[in-house]
Amino acid sequence: TDAIRPLIAGNWKMNGLKASAAEFDAMLTGAAAVAAKADLLVCPPATLIAAFAAKAAGKTVAVGAQDCHPKASGAHTGDIAAEMLADAGASAIIVGHSERRADHGESDDLVRQKAEAAWRAGVIAIVCVGETQGQRDAGQTLDILRGQLSLSLPGGSKADNLVVAYEPVWAIGTGLTPTAKDVEQIHGFIRELLISRFSDEGAKMRILYGGSVKPSNAAELMAVKNVNGALVGGASLKAADFLAIAKGCP
Ligand code: G3P
Repeated sequence: TDAIRPLIAGNWKMNGLKASAAEFDAMLTGAAAVAAKADLLVCPPATLIAAFAAKAAGKTVAVGAQDCHPKASGAHTGDIAAEMLADAGASAIIVGHSERRADHGESDDLVRQKAEAAWRAGVIAIVCVGETQGQRDAGQTLDILRGQLSLSLPGGSKADNLVVAYEPVWAIGTGLTPTAKDVEQIHGFIRELLISRFSDEGAKMRILYGGSVKPSNAAELMAVKNVNGALVGGASLKAADFLAIAKGCP
């Protein structure tokens, strides 16, 4: 997996106003210095995608979205189609984040439909999976991941249209992270599942780690086998932190 180019993706969640463009500008400016290390993607709230994408044109930071509706158009008040996000300039869409699964009751089946919607719109799907604290304590982590991956990843997933993000729910926004040894075991398990289902494509697919990634722990986490980048929440809101995490890639 050493040949897989890392992806450092920032998930801004429900943070960011027009004034945040200054922080994004700083990311664009600093991106050249980390271009040798990783691809960069910033997923701001939908309201900022078009403006950020316009700024990012011709630069080495891609812009993505945090969610989409499975349908291309129609009577779905307040929802946003993958086609609209692509039209606004998104080149990737996060689907199945644990906050969407929890806050909006999203099922694995819906997450898979959203990933397919991203493809239909011509953009990459970043599918999130991860166990809760309770599931971890009950020793169910691998079973939960096997189930989520088998149902949330569409058939035909390829290394250039699908990214898996492993985000243990208990590590999100808590400052807690699994040990490097745990991450290696879990990412290795995910890799085996991807290879058994998608063969060579599964071998090349990026598996991101997410959950309290910071400049201080990025180098250790990014050096773990089968960790091909990070999905970063809080630390992606500051250009200096986001870029420092990318610098931490091997
Ligand atoms: O999607 C990224 C995220 O859930 C991790 O958040 O704030 O722990 O980096 P954070």
